Amino acid sequence: MLETKPDITEVAIPGPEGSSVVARETAALTTGTKTAPIVVKRAKGLIVEDVDGNLFLDFTSGMITATGHSHPKVVAAIAEQAEKWLFINSPDFYSPLQAEVAEKIIKLVPGSKAKKVFLCNSGTEANEAAIKAARWNKPTRKRLLAFIGAFHGRTMGALSLTASKLAHRARYTPNMPDVHHLPYATCYRCPYKMTYPSCDIWCARILEELYFKQFIPPDEVAAIFVEPIQGEGGYIVPPPEFIEIIRDIAERHGIAYVDDEVQAGIGKTGKMLAIEHFGVSANATPLAKALGSGVAVGALVVDADLDFGAQGAHSNTFGGNGVALAAAKATLDVIEDEGLVECAAVQGDYFSSKLRELQERFPAIGDVRGKGLMIGVDFVSDRASRTPDPAYRDRVLAGCFRHGLMVLPCGFSALRFTPALVVEREQIDRALDILERAIREA
Ligand SMILES: Cc1ncc(COP(=O)(O)O)c(C=O)c1O
Repeated sequence: MLETKPDITEVAIPGPEGSSVVARETAALTTGTKTAPIVVKRAKGLIVEDVDGNLFLDFTSGMITATGHSHPKVVAAIAEQAEKWLFINSPDFYSPLQAEVAEKIIKLVPGSKAKKVFLCNSGTEANEAAIKAARWNKPTRKRLLAFIGAFHGRTMGALSLTASKLAHRARYTPNMPDVHHLPYATCYRCPYKMTYPSCDIWCARILEELYFKQFIPPDEVAAIFVEPIQGEGGYIVPPPEFIEIIRDIAERHGIAYVDDEVQAGIGKTGKMLAIEHFGVSANATPLAKALGSGVAVGALVVDADLDFGAQGAHSNTFGGNGVALAAAKATLDVIEDEGLVECAAVQGDYFSSKLRELQERFPAIGDVRGKGLMIGVDFVSDRASRTPDPAYRDRVLAGCFRHGLMVLPCGFSALRFTPALVVEREQIDRALDILERAIREA
């Protein structure tokens, strides 16, 4: 059993054991997105132990392990299901478990319209399904809209919507044609150099006032993809009017509104889905990451009239496999039974207020933003100009790892904090201590 309140002081990573694993992985795996040479032996709750015996407080994986690492009820449900069946070709055959999980997932999504769900294995696959559902059901509409700063996945369709880093797209042209991007409501660094609210939400209104008048016939647009809070792009929370206006424009022009909840969904913002903060509903909702507590589960919930409705128009192999279904069911049960959405709201408020206190003391912290336990801290070289300082951010990041706190970067110069929803107050205090120490050293 791992200690729940480790006394983390100074961690040398990678240690001797870890170094050899890093070398083997580097030789064997294609290049991915490694952030730090932490070599994991086991993980429980929010604590990760590496192969050299170092303990880390994990403030990254709540994005995926919402219920904490290896929650006993999730582990038990997976083990029990593995004994019954692992794979029955769920897209081809039927099971009570698949029916139950589908019904549960549908219930997560707000809105009065009847819904259906496509089960898959990842966020990018859920977004691919959304592209296909929109195009299949709106055959005269081929265009798609998305936002600068967005991340919707890395497969070629979803990648055509993604626009958060050059590294994601470089060398992959041609992308899917007829995808148009608009600047997102990035108020902290407004792309139009305007100020909220005197801007009158120009970043949303521009869609109808310029785009639809000058180069995008709205009746050719099948769908608009929107992250309710931009994740990879920097944990950007748009003002509520932005989402309301975009939603309204989509509705009036018969455009499917796709609410990508892959990162922001499943409780971490203090609501089950982040769109609930904005009081609107979507036509299609890609889900993944936290839905399976670490097991690969993706889902696309669509209005019933966006169902493919024809055998073979869309399907897959592993969607609805036994382990994924058991993990999703147990995850949603644990979140409900333990009141974890409410925990995220309460702990998130506490964490944000403490981060704002840090911001008062350290001018390098330009912005603290987010909702619930989805919090971004943006580092700047100058508060007045809000100039991003990625080098400083990277030094703080390295300091956090050195002192045993796992965090991830996002956007130009931000760190993202997404502890599991089971995070304790003391663990937040410990993370704050480590962050402060890393900032002092940076
Ligand atoms: C909002 C959003 N959509 C889609 C994806 C892609 O998910 P996956 O990596 O599971 O394909 C991500 C991953 O970070 C994401 O944050």
